[in-house]
Amino acid sequence: MSIAMIPHTTDEIIALESAHTAGFYPKRQVAIVRGQGATLWDADGREYIDCVGGQGAANLGHAHPAVVAAIQAQAATLISCPEIFHNDQRAAYLSELIAVLPDGMGRAFLCNSGAEAIEGALKIARLITNRPNVIATVRGFHGRTLGALSATYEPKYREPFAPLLSGFSHIPYDKLEALEAAVNEQTAAVLIEPIQGEGGVRPASPGYLDGAQRICRERGALLIVDEVQTGFGRTGTLFGIEHAGITPDLIALAKSIAGGLPMGAVAIHSRYGTLPQGSHGTTFGGGPLVCAAARAVLQAMRDEELPRQAAEKGAYLIEQLRALKLARVREVRGMGLLVGLELKERVQPFLPALMELGVLALPAGPNVLRLLPPLVISYAQLDRVVVAVGSVLQGAK
Ligand SMILES: Cc1ncc(COP(=O)(O)O)c(C=O)c1O
Repeated sequence: MSIAMIPHTTDEIIALESAHTAGFYPKRQVAIVRGQGATLWDADGREYIDCVGGQGAANLGHAHPAVVAAIQAQAATLISCPEIFHNDQRAAYLSELIAVLPDGMGRAFLCNSGAEAIEGALKIARLITNRPNVIATVRGFHGRTLGALSATYEPKYREPFAPLLSGFSHIPYDKLEALEAAVNEQTAAVLIEPIQGEGGVRPASPGYLDGAQRICRERGALLIVDEVQTGFGRTGTLFGIEHAGITPDLIALAKSIAGGLPMGAVAIHSRYGTLPQGSHGTTFGGGPLVCAAARAVLQAMRDEELPRQAAEKGAYLIEQLRALKLARVREVRGMGLLVGLELKERVQPFLPALMELGVLALPAGPNVLRLLPPLVISYAQLDRVVVAVGSVLQGAK
C-alpha cells in the first residue's frame, strides 16, 4: 500500500481528489482547508465569507472554541460506545436536549445524519400507527437514502432510483386544504419542514403548522417536523416550530446538532413511551464524541444567545438586500439567517461570480440564491456580502 502525499496547492488538491472521488458532487474549483467563525480560507491562502455554513452544519461557526475543547477532551477519554451500553455523555445530552425541546417531547433516538433521522422518524411513525402511508410536500427535501428520498420531491433526485418506497405522496406545501383532503385512516405520518430550505427558502404561513397538527391529531396520523436545516438557532429561535408554538409527534434533527460532527436525532413525544427493543438501531448513534460536541453546542447556543443573534442579523441582512432593489431579484425572503433571493433567472452562474468576490453561497432550487452563514457572522461581514451580491446581480434583466 502506498501512502499518498498530502497535496498542498489548490491545483494539487483538486487533481488528487478528482482522480478518486465517486463523482456525485458538482464541485467548485476551490479547496477549503481552514475556517474560523464565518471565515474560510482556501489552500492558496485566499479568504472567503462563508454563506454556505457547512450546508447548515456550521451554525456555531468554524473552530468554535467550546466545541473544539469538548471534542478534544472527549476524544482523549472515549470515542466509541454503542448503545448496548449506557454512557455518561449520552445520558447528559439526552436530558439536555429534551430540556430545550417543546414540552411534551420526552425521548430521542440518536443517529448520524439528517437522512437517517428522517428514516428513523418514518419507521417510528409506521411502528406506532401501524399504517402504511406518508404524506410529504411538493419541493420538500428530506435526504437521499431510499426512505428519505421517497419523501423528497425533486424528480431529478428520485427518478434514477425508482422504484422507491410505496405509500408516499406529495401535496402542495403551505396549503391546509390539500392536507385536509389527503390525510386519512391509512396515513402514518405527515412530514413537513417549518421552512422549505432546499426547495427555495419558503417559510410556512402563520397557521399552517398548527393546522397540520390539528388535522393529524383528529385523524390519528403523526406529524413529523423536519428541523434538519431549521434547527439550532438558524431561523431566529432554537427550533423553527417555536415560531408556530406547536409540539409535533416527532422531530428530525441533524446538521448543526453537534457543531459539524455527523449526528442526527429523532425527538419523540412522551405519549408514545419507549419503542420496541430491537426494532431499530445504528452502530455509531449516540456515540460519546458527538454527544460531548452536541452538549457544547447547546451550551454555546445559550451563552451566546445565537438564536437571538440569528433573528437580528437575519432581519438586517434581508433589509439590506431588499434595499438594493435589484431588477433581477423577484423576492428576498427568509427567517433568521436562512435567507433566499428568488431570481428571475437561473442562479447557478452567479455562484462562481460571488466566489470571485470572496463570498461562498448556495442555490436553493434552480433560481434561488441561498445565504446560510454561521450565526456568528459579523455585521461587517454581512455588509460585505450585501455589496458582493449587489455587484454580481446588478443590471437589468
Ligand atoms: C430539511 C432537510 N432534511 C434532511 C436533509 C438530509 O440531511 P443529510 O444531508 O444530513 O442526510 C437535509 C439536507 O440538506 C435537509 O435540508
